Amino acid sequence: MEEINKFGVYKKRFGKKYVYFTKSIYPGFRGFDERIEKFDGSEFREVRPERSKFVAAIAKGLMQTGIKPGAKVLYLGASHGYTPSFMSDVIGPDGFLFCLDFAPRVVKDLVFVCEKRKNMVPFLENACHPETYEDMIPKVDAVFQDIAQREQVKIFVENCNMFLKQGGFGLLALKARSVDVTKKPKDIFKQVRAVLEKEMVIVDYRELDPFEKDHAFFVVKKK
Ligand SMILES: C[S@@+](CC[C@H](N)C(=O)[O-])C[C@H]1O[C@@H](n2cnc3c(N)ncnc32)[C@H](O)[C@@H]1O
Repeated sequence: MEEINKFGVYKKRFGKKYVYFTKSIYPGFRGFDERIEKFDGSEFREVRPERSKFVAAIAKGLMQTGIKPGAKVLYLGASHGYTPSFMSDVIGPDGFLFCLDFAPRVVKDLVFVCEKRKNMVPFLENACHPETYEDMIPKVDAVFQDIAQREQVKIFVENCNMFLKQGGFGLLALKARSVDVTKKPKDIFKQVRAVLEKEMVIVDYRELDPFEKDHAFFVVKKK
């Protein structure tokens, strides 16, 4: 079991393939039927890069995440809590994850995950309207966004401007087809880069294939 770049995400080779894990801060937690490996007295949970764009970006060689032990993170598009549950392992008991999604159907599941993992809290809110949750969420070390919306870049920039501390990291998992299905994903990636560069400094960038087709991952810092 080998940690990748001190990111709190580990990899282990099984035959020709790497399998990815986080070290569980709640041993015994099985939220998603994940494989468990015991190593060095700890419990490790398998996280699949085909299901988590955060881990796909790390598997593709990301050099900076800003998601570290003790970090406070605003997670936009938390869905059922799959990736948030692994990010909760990475930030550890001193970190905190504000998990937001606007779909009641998925937030119902998210609530159960948050009940078992004390460093996560769910919010049923629309990320297009950060002013509606501004009073409930403090400034954070990182804003992570994974929502398939046409306006996903605008939503990301607005939330970073409102919630990111100076020196904090913004992480955007971008789905090109949601921005414009008629354009080539590579052209959308270029266009998004230009928009982000007006307001922020891009510190890392990965395309997520073969884990996620037509997706890119940007890591930014406030100027
Ligand atoms: C691809 S899923 C997220 C998967 C999750 N990040 C993971 O890795 O486990 C996208 C989620 O974004 C949510 N979403 C889309 N638009 C949103 C918005 N404007 N505000 C809040 N959530 C939104 C959807 O309800 C959906 O649950």
